[in-house]
Amino acid sequence: MTSTNTIRIGIIGSGGIARAHVAAYRTIENVQIVAVADVVPGKAREFIEATGLADALAFEDHRELLRLDLDGVSICTPNMAHCRTSVDALEAGKQVLLEKPMSVTLDEAIEMVQVAKRTGNMLSIGFQPRYDPNMDIIRNIVQSGQLGNVYYVETGGGRRRGMPRGTFVRKELAGAGAMADIGCYSLDMALNALGYPKPLSVSAYTSNFFGTNPKHHPEADKFDVEDFGVALVRLEGGIALNFKISWAMHMDTLGATMFLGSEGGLKITPAGKGPWSGVWDGKVGSITLFHDVLGHQTESPIPIKEHTINLFHEKVKDFVKAIREGRAAPIPGEQILYNQAIIDGVLRSSELKREVEISLPGM
Ligand SMILES: NC(=O)c1ccc[n+]([C@@H]2O[C@H](COP(=O)([O-])OP(=O)(O)OC[C@H]3O[C@@H](n4cnc5c(N)ncnc54)[C@H](O)[C@@H]3O)[C@@H](O)[C@H]2O)c1
Repeated sequence: MTSTNTIRIGIIGSGGIARAHVAAYRTIENVQIVAVADVVPGKAREFIEATGLADALAFEDHRELLRLDLDGVSICTPNMAHCRTSVDALEAGKQVLLEKPMSVTLDEAIEMVQVAKRTGNMLSIGFQPRYDPNMDIIRNIVQSGQLGNVYYVETGGGRRRGMPRGTFVRKELAGAGAMADIGCYSLDMALNALGYPKPLSVSAYTSNFFGTNPKHHPEADKFDVEDFGVALVRLEGGIALNFKISWAMHMDTLGATMFLGSEGGLKITPAGKGPWSGVWDGKVGSITLFHDVLGHQTESPIPIKEHTINLFHEKVKDFVKAIREGRAAPIPGEQILYNQAIIDGVLRSSELKREVEISLPGM
């Protein structure tokens, strides 16, 4: 950290989500956005002007930005550039807040974690739904032992019609589709509640019947990622995880997130209505505990914590707080490596049309 109290931040990638980072940093005292980098010539300068960051410097090459005296960087590039930019930032001694998903491949995620460890710098992944107080309720229930032996978890969900455009639907930029865009959130919810058990193997199927159909997507000719995926994942501890995700479908729901245990079950429905709802992205609709009370099959609704917390702002605030306090990463890359290992396994398995092992190095 610099000698003054001001935290100096750089932003790499100046598209849609970078604006949300700027808005969040602005809510924190003594934070200065010093520079912005974007590979598209002139884009960082336009962003600086549009967001009123008058004193910030603009770069095309993120490595030039990284030569500055900065405490932290927000990485807001498309997924394919997450690994290179994070590794360069960590090597340059910066603390990193990286947008989700962590990377595209497992190999990239492993490299990123290894570099974070070697350099001692922070790599925190931007899963803002973690800051929903209802996430703590879910995790506390699962961790409390009330469910007994948890042996089956189902997570994910489906939007009736909720396909993004642009960088999200092109493999050369996004690396993957619905799995990487929204699937990573559902995985994080389930794995975080379970205490992030190691994934062992994956058997998966993916398809893209909606995205490649001009009737359903305006960029059908460029759409080459999956819009649907389903996987059976074996987790350490004898847990079966059924993971499914869909950007578009002819169905109202792909079901709730559920944890089945020998003593109880927990069901979580996502909040929201309309074609873009149906997957968990930070707002919980209901939490229900299924258990036997004196032999009676009982369903106990768990009171939801209604709140007005801006989850996105919370994740950025926590990152800055962690820099100030010299704390470890709030959402460590080391943990999210397992999330990425599953997505990597889904893509490999669906291509090979068979179950694949997940091999993780001892780190
Ligand atoms: N947490 C959330 O709620 C949330 C929401 C939307 C997007 N995202 C994530 O944020 C990331 C960016 O999404 P977006 O919607 O802002 O995309 P976008 O396409 O609008 O913006 C990405 C920007 O990065 C630039 N870029 C590409 N490669 C670069 C590089 N090597 N160095 C510097 N700049 C580079 C592009 O030119 C573009 O301006 C994605 O990984 C996405 O998954 C997160």
